[in-house]
Amino acid sequence: MLELTHTTKTQDESRQGEALDMVPTGDSTGRKLYIESYGCQMNFSDSEIVASILMEKGFETTRDYKEADVVFINTCSIRENAEQRVRNRLKEFESAKAKNPGMVVGVLGCMAERLKSKFLEEEKLVDVVVGPDAYRDLPNLIEQADDGGRAVNVLLSREETYADINPVRLNSNGISAFISIMRGCDNMCSFCVVPFTRGRERSRDPESIVKEAQDLYDAGYKEVTLLGQNVDSYKFKPQGEEGALNQETVNFAQLLEMVAQVNPELRVRFSTSHPKDITDEVLYTMSRHENICKYIHLPVQSGNSRVLELMNRTYDREWYKERVDAIRRIIPECGISTDVITGFCSETEEEHQDTLSMMEYVKYDFAYMFAYSERPGTLAAKRYQDDVPEEVKKRRLTEVVNLQRSHSLYRIEQFVGKVHKVLIEGFSKRSDQDYCGRNDQNTMVVFPVDERYKVGDYVNVLGESCTSATLIGRIID
Ligand code: SAH
Ligand code: SF4
Ligand code: F3S
Repeated sequence: MLELTHTTKTQDESRQGEALDMVPTGDSTGRKLYIESYGCQMNFSDSEIVASILMEKGFETTRDYKEADVVFINTCSIRENAEQRVRNRLKEFESAKAKNPGMVVGVLGCMAERLKSKFLEEEKLVDVVVGPDAYRDLPNLIEQADDGGRAVNVLLSREETYADINPVRLNSNGISAFISIMRGCDNMCSFCVVPFTRGRERSRDPESIVKEAQDLYDAGYKEVTLLGQNVDSYKFKPQGEEGALNQETVNFAQLLEMVAQVNPELRVRFSTSHPKDITDEVLYTMSRHENICKYIHLPVQSGNSRVLELMNRTYDREWYKERVDAIRRIIPECGISTDVITGFCSETEEEHQDTLSMMEYVKYDFAYMFAYSERPGTLAAKRYQDDVPEEVKKRRLTEVVNLQRSHSLYRIEQFVGKVHKVLIEGFSKRSDQDYCGRNDQNTMVVFPVDERYKVGDYVNVLGESCTSATLIGRIID
């Protein structure tokens, strides 16, 4: 999963984000926007594009939906419970809308794309429904709603990458930021709704990506995470004049290198890598640049080749193991995390054991683990029966989670007694006497505040003890 934090997670990864109060970039209209995001980092990144588009039109942002003129909820469809959370949240907006009938309520993102105008029938308080490729149309759609109408734009695009839009950094620590490098997905994993909600894969112009990274660095940011559903298939062919120089296609390894060269002090991360596409060229690029973090999110989904085939993942168990071996060979210190689905259609007990043995093989640093949730319209929903009983899915999930917990602890224990370069991201959740930040491998590190260093500085931290999710240490000079 495209995720910022990395505990051993089981529930839905949806989470909330609230806009910080920000002033408009265009002429102020005094109108207030509230935006809340669910789902993956792509959605959080999109909300920053939405905020940018509306601030150009004079909107300011607010953290309190009750005082907002426009309330947006950027939604996720990945599992049924992700959608349920959004519906529950919409109910909570009802009383605010009753008090302020002029309030425009909009549903954005993947659920909007999946349900389209059906949303307007199902949820009476919703005024606008906007898919992920139609955000430029928002000012117009809000206007239609202001005039008393209800508006839908769920057109998907083959070109839209919002390359020219400078995202407004919402909820930012001023240190790390996401950069979308591509949109959509062409993979058609049979369980997955994303190709339907996000459309065809397209890559963004590398120059605009490098410029965004440079602008972030100039504004004091120290870490960027390049985002895409499958970053390894990034491919951009410049549309120059016929016969002009510089018409080489840029691949992901090359893009990574370009971003790493922005500044050695700017850390570069990326997510998500697809096992079928991750190349040795990417691994060598990582090993050459100190500022590319040694961490790869490589979702396995299942450790069994028959199940992987049903999932249409297009790799098998052996291929996956070979890719892990290549990572360990080329970047021995690399952290690896994964996503696992338990109880996919027709998965047997032995096949589930293959997932556990794959986990033993890799000993992931962390993992996002889910019980299979059938999504309407996907290949699996059309072709296969969702025939593993719910309690079996859950029991298998528990086994996976317990095993992962022991592996997370195993990995983190290896960090104790070693020195880690950590970017100070802020104060620890528990105490303002402690800083927190991540090491190269993306493990959270907590250590006592030292007045000589501030948020955004790199420090060397000696790991002294740990839990299964956090390394605890102290700064050494
Ligand atoms: N593009 C990324 C994943 C995006 S979705 C990739 O290919 O790895 C994030 C994760 O949600 C997936 O890796 C998968 O583990 C999980 N997921 C997707 N659809 C699901 C479903 N129908 N039921 C349960 N988990 C699902
Ligand atoms: Fe979904 Fe597969 Fe695309 Fe990931 S690669 S978004 S799991 S279809
Ligand atoms: Fe992301 Fe959820 Fe859409 S995981 S791409 S917001 S379905």
